[in-house]
Amino acid sequence: MDNTTFRIGGELEVSRLGFGAMRLTGPGIWGQPTDREAALATLRRVPELGINLIDTADSYGPDVSEPLIREALHPYAPGLHIATKAGLRRPGPDAWLPHGDPDYLIAQARRSLTHLGVEQIDLWQLHRIDPSVPRDEQFGAVRAMIDEGIIRHAGLSQVTVAEIEAAQRVFPVATVQNRFNLSDRSSESVLDYCTRHAIGFIPWFPLAAGALTGPGSALAVIAQAHAATPGQIALAWLLRRSPVILPIPGTASVAHLEENARALHIALSDDEFARLEATYR
Ligand SMILES: NC(=O)c1ccc[n+]([C@@H]2O[C@H](COP(=O)([O-])OP(=O)(O)OC[C@H]3O[C@@H](n4cnc5c(N)ncnc54)[C@H](OP(=O)(O)O)[C@@H]3O)[C@@H](O)[C@H]2O)c1
Repeated sequence: MDNTTFRIGGELEVSRLGFGAMRLTGPGIWGQPTDREAALATLRRVPELGINLIDTADSYGPDVSEPLIREALHPYAPGLHIATKAGLRRPGPDAWLPHGDPDYLIAQARRSLTHLGVEQIDLWQLHRIDPSVPRDEQFGAVRAMIDEGIIRHAGLSQVTVAEIEAAQRVFPVATVQNRFNLSDRSSESVLDYCTRHAIGFIPWFPLAAGALTGPGSALAVIAQAHAATPGQIALAWLLRRSPVILPIPGTASVAHLEENARALHIALSDDEFARLEATYR
């Protein structure tokens, strides 16, 4: 293992630069892709670039992202790992509602097995802790899925340290997926906790949905020195921030995917890393 890989749950080895499959769906993360062929081509390029962690969810579409992954990549190459989630319902475009009924969570995970065409989900994440359902009941559903073998590893999304600790009393928390990027470090204490406990930290919104990819910034200045792009430097900063960070930039473009994948091999100097921290704090 080197600094380009991480072992989820101490054993599932993944390349630290993954792929987020949320934005393959239609506008508002709703319905079919605007350009279906481009979405499929992007997915097919993922393993060719050495990326072996794909993040998706039942709610992307809903029921669009997972079947697209299956259509593009099944039967899966050995070592390709797909992480999915449940716990958010979709009343319409851009609308997300927590739904943590334990039976619903388990039923959705079973649907994910079918939609993805797998016998076991490598990493299943509770998309949100539903505040209207006792959290231990939601964690209990996760425990039951691990015990039954439906899922191999389990994670949480958008949680506090106290919530991770509460979940750890019920099942081993392999990953945490919180919003985090150079310009939004509000989850820094959660990241530091994950680093100390070797829990994978999957920062969603790693490029601030493209806002960190533009010209005329501190990122752009450092990018020039590396013959790179600002977005690649934003990803390189994340990769350098902690060895447990697994960024999953999302795109529906093969060119952007290829660009993002190259960030894994950009090494920032101590000075560059510190300058970025100071500029964006
Ligand atoms: N757990 C959660 O609650 C949660 C919430 C949101 C997202 N997620 C996960 O996190 C993943 C990433 O998050 P995200 O999609 O919100 O944010 P992101 O990865 O920061 O941004 C994706 C956006 O950036 C653009 N982009 C990507 N690469 C680019 C490049 N090289 N140059 C210019 N623009 C580029 C994409 O547009 P193009 O298609 O034009 O490239 C896309 O619109 C999602 O796919 C999903 O799996 C999880």
